[in-house]
Amino acid sequence: MANAQKRDFAALRAEFPIFHDKVYINSCSYGALSNHVRAAFAAYLDVREEEGSPWQMFVEKLEQARAQFAAQINASPDEVAITTSASQAIGAIASGVRFDQGRDEVLITDYEFPTSGENWFAQEARGARVRIVGVGPSGYILPEDITAALTDKTAVVAATHVCYRNGFRQDVASVTAAARDAGAITVVDGFQCLGTEALDVKAADLDVYVGGATKYMLATAGLCFMYVRKPLIEQITPLITGWFAQSDIFAMDHRKNDFSSTARRFEAGTPPNVNIMAGIAGMDMIDEAGPAEIRRHVVGLNERLKAGVRDLQGRFASPDDPKWHGAMIAIKSTDENALVAALESDGIVTSCRDGNLRISAHLYNNQHDVDAVLAALDKNRSLLA
Ligand SMILES: Cc1ncc(COP(=O)(O)O)c(C=O)c1O
Repeated sequence: MANAQKRDFAALRAEFPIFHDKVYINSCSYGALSNHVRAAFAAYLDVREEEGSPWQMFVEKLEQARAQFAAQINASPDEVAITTSASQAIGAIASGVRFDQGRDEVLITDYEFPTSGENWFAQEARGARVRIVGVGPSGYILPEDITAALTDKTAVVAATHVCYRNGFRQDVASVTAAARDAGAITVVDGFQCLGTEALDVKAADLDVYVGGATKYMLATAGLCFMYVRKPLIEQITPLITGWFAQSDIFAMDHRKNDFSSTARRFEAGTPPNVNIMAGIAGMDMIDEAGPAEIRRHVVGLNERLKAGVRDLQGRFASPDDPKWHGAMIAIKSTDENALVAALESDGIVTSCRDGNLRISAHLYNNQHDVDAVLAALDKNRSLLA
């Protein structure tokens, strides 16, 4: 929906029924359900009931989702794979990287989501050596902390765009450029970023970018997108495959494996049709708001939140500068589960990780939501660290 009609944020909020009863500010965990996405789920059930097996339509929806996602990140549809999880996408790439050609090292950071680390450790069976880049002198993992760890043995850098624990937002363009200079590819986990800002994979000159539809893409679990820069696609031969990864998915030839020359080669079996229909509807909402406008809106809300938390003498695990944090703000707590429960009892839905309360605004949140969070934090100051 490249030419989506823009709608203002208040009109978009009205599409999310959860706000009738709750202050929902937990997109880092799961995006709120809109009427539009609900209608897409219903449309899937309707077509199943009425037509039974509309495979042609499902394949068209798959390609529609691929094209819409590609347009959102300024990629070509041929550079986009559609999978059911980030784990599957990262696993397909990891399984295809060679570690026997003079480079065997994988750098991961302590900001990775488990699945990003685990998939690279799994490659130790094929000769990979995983090294972990921890927090540097700044208290965060800055691009220079990662690039200082590069060696002439580094094959891959795994870097998270926005950390799910503290909201740190990595400069993935700088990391990718430095890694490429050193002869390594960079695989970015953008799960906590997609849907929160404009992303141009060409301008940022990224290699691989993975993200799913669960959170700020406003759709559902069970759908993931992966961008792979064109020249890399045929250099990586996955060891996990299936009929939707073939050059002709209708060839139905079990006597050979004929990978697609596009990023479809990183796919595997039957696509998640219902999730794809929901995913298109979620992307419609993002297009209607505009990713750059979403970022502006959320930065504004987060500045208000941070100022209010400071007034309460609260402290942050997230960096202060919006350039260095994503949509999620992590607030230090003495008992984060108790704080989430206290907010829940006031009808405010949040989540926590690692000693921090996570407040994650999106296009549907407004200043009243932030003020409600601040009022609840004021009541529970003893739980702020
Ligand atoms: C940064 C990050 N990566 C990946 C995932 C999910 O990975 P998968 O799609 O494999 O469940 C999440 C959240 O669930 C996440 O926050």
